[in-house]
Formats: sequence, C-alpha cells, structure tokens
Amino acid sequence: MSAPNSSYDPVEVTPLRADEVERMRDEALSAIAAAHTLEELKQVRIDHAGDRSPMALANREIGALPPQARKEAGQRVGQARGAINHALAARTTEVESAEEEVALASETVDVTLPWDVEAVGARHPLTTIQEHVADIFVAMGWEVAEGPEVEAEWLNFDALNLGPDHPARTMQDTFWVTPESAAMVLRTHTSPVQARTMLTREPPIYVICPGRVYRTDELDATHSPVFHQVEGLAIDKGLSMAHLKGTLDHFAQAIYGDGMTTRFRPSYFPFTEPSAEMDLLCYVCHNEPDAVAECRTCKGEGWVEWGGCGVVNPRVLIACGVDPDVYSGFAFGIGLDRTITSRYDIADLRDLFDGDIRFTEPFGVEL
Ligand code: DAH
Repeated sequence: MSAPNSSYDPVEVTPLRADEVERMRDEALSAIAAAHTLEELKQVRIDHAGDRSPMALANREIGALPPQARKEAGQRVGQARGAINHALAARTTEVESAEEEVALASETVDVTLPWDVEAVGARHPLTTIQEHVADIFVAMGWEVAEGPEVEAEWLNFDALNLGPDHPARTMQDTFWVTPESAAMVLRTHTSPVQARTMLTREPPIYVICPGRVYRTDELDATHSPVFHQVEGLAIDKGLSMAHLKGTLDHFAQAIYGDGMTTRFRPSYFPFTEPSAEMDLLCYVCHNEPDAVAECRTCKGEGWVEWGGCGVVNPRVLIACGVDPDVYSGFAFGIGLDRTITSRYDIADLRDLFDGDIRFTEPFGVEL
C-alpha cells in the first residue's frame, strides 16, 4: 500500500481509475458466469473477491488517497465489489440447484424394477413354540429357568429320586460323557432344571424350562436322539394336584383355544407322587361323537398324549433342600417335537431337524 499523499491524484492511481475498476469488475463477472461447478466458483471467489484479488488490492489503495479523493474512489470500488459479491451469491444458488438436480436424477431408484429376493430365513417352529410357551407362563408370573445340556448325573437322576439302582434309571437311554468317572451325562430330560432351581432359590418357585434333551434313540420318522421338552415346576405352600390340573388346562387353552382341556391317567415317575400321564383333548375332532372315529390326529382316541406330571415327591424336595412339611408343589414335562408334529400333521419327525428353509417358511414369521 502506498503512503498517504495529499498531492496524490486518484486518476493517476491505476487500480482506482474508473475504467480499470470497471474492467476488473467485468472480468470478475464473466468469470462468475463461466463457473459451472461449486469447485470452480470457489476458485473464482478466491481470484476475484479474496484478500489478494485485484479488487481487494485496489480497495487498500483508497487509504493512500488524499481525503477529498477517498469518497469517490471508495464508492466506485465498493459498488464494484458489491456487484461481484451479489453475482457470486446468485451464481452459487444456481449452481447448487443445478448440481442437486443432477444428483437427484442420477440417484433415482426405480422401485418398480424386478430384483432377486434373497431369502434370509424363517423362524423354526420349535423356537416359536418355546417362546410361545414361555410367554403363556410369564403372563401368569412364572419365570424362565435354564440349565446345561451336559449335566451332572446326580442332578439328572439322583436328585430326582432315581438312585443308582432304581429300575427307572434304565428307562432313559443315556448318553454318558467320557470318562464315565466324571459322572456327567447329556441330560435325558429337562427335569434336572427343577433340582437346580430348588437348590438355588427359595420358594415360592414358579419356573418353566424349555430346552434340548438327548437319548440314545436311532433317528427315524418318529424318534430322534435330540429332542425338546418343556418342564414346569411350582413350589409353594399348599399346592396340590388341583392346581396342576388348573394350570395345565389354562396352558392347553392358551395354545389350542377355548374349550380345550386335559385329562390325567395314573402313571409312575420317580420324581412325582402321585404321577399322571396327561392327554390333551384332540384339537381336531374335540372327541365329538360324530367325528372322533374318523379322526386321523388322535386315531379315534379323542385324546392325544401330551406329557407327564404329578405332585413333586417329598424325597425330591428333601434332596433339593426344600422342607416338605412347609412346601409342596407340582411338576410337568411335555415333549415339544411331538406337539408340533401332531399339531401340524408332520409325518416325519426328521423334517424338524433337517434345516430346510422350505420346511420352516410355512410356519410364518420370517426373519
Ligand atoms: N421327565 C419326564 C420324561 O422325560 C417327563 C416328566 C414327567 C416331567 C413328570 C415331569 C413330571 O416334571 O412331573 O419323561
């Protein structure tokens, strides 16, 4: 910047001459008009409106003019700069909306185009039924309990009144974990979760335990070495067989609808006394006289087998640290695989375990 000089003639200061200011302005305006992208505009802004632009330099020269000359020169430069800034702003808006239009056009998605739908899978009916059963009981205030599939022999058998020499111990064909001295088995039923629960909680206890169990059965249309059960256990003061019946009837109605009921047949389980096999009213023919004879689901019985149950044997309570003089309870165990195959008329149990998506999809909920 030149030093103030009272004898200075603005007309002689080249950058401030009217024609020069006009030229710089026009040069800037045509550069602005020629910019087609925001990137180009950025450069134009630096070149023509930035701190080092000719116009900014001219502006600085004003200070060097004698006071009487500053006004006119200031106005001239100010107007030119105003015009440039105005043009820059207007062009920026134009370029922005043009770029937006291009982006919108290029990113348009034609939602009507066909595409390859990738099947991601479907919920397995065993998962669905386990969650459904848990929901029914949780709604009554019960809790879901779990236990390991590799289980201590003592919890799987002894705690449930199946001592080493108990004849019923051989009723369940057991997978032993090696070495045998480890006294571990693949649990043959979900009942050890009963023992685990009583050993770790104080009554009142209301738990439901769905899970996988193992027995040394050959895999065929009606047997599988891995299958699923759901166990229920209630321990409280004054519980009886009547509470068991009411609970199971409610359970049956929650799964199969109003009018469902269960029936008990006397049976034997070491962990319950008395014990019962429970049947479910056939959900197809409802044991109606004119339909039952022809019914394929219950094979004319009017009832389908559902599981075992009973009043918890006091010996089990004692083994698991519950005082039988204060508390009593009931328990039940249901096979889930058969519940599904009979409910949906699935002839071959192996369909449940093949993992074929074509089998699981019709059960509804897709993932
Ligand atoms: N654990 C038995 C089984 O696998 C089923 C069962 C029967 C469970 C009676 C129970 C029960 O809780 O009370 O065959």
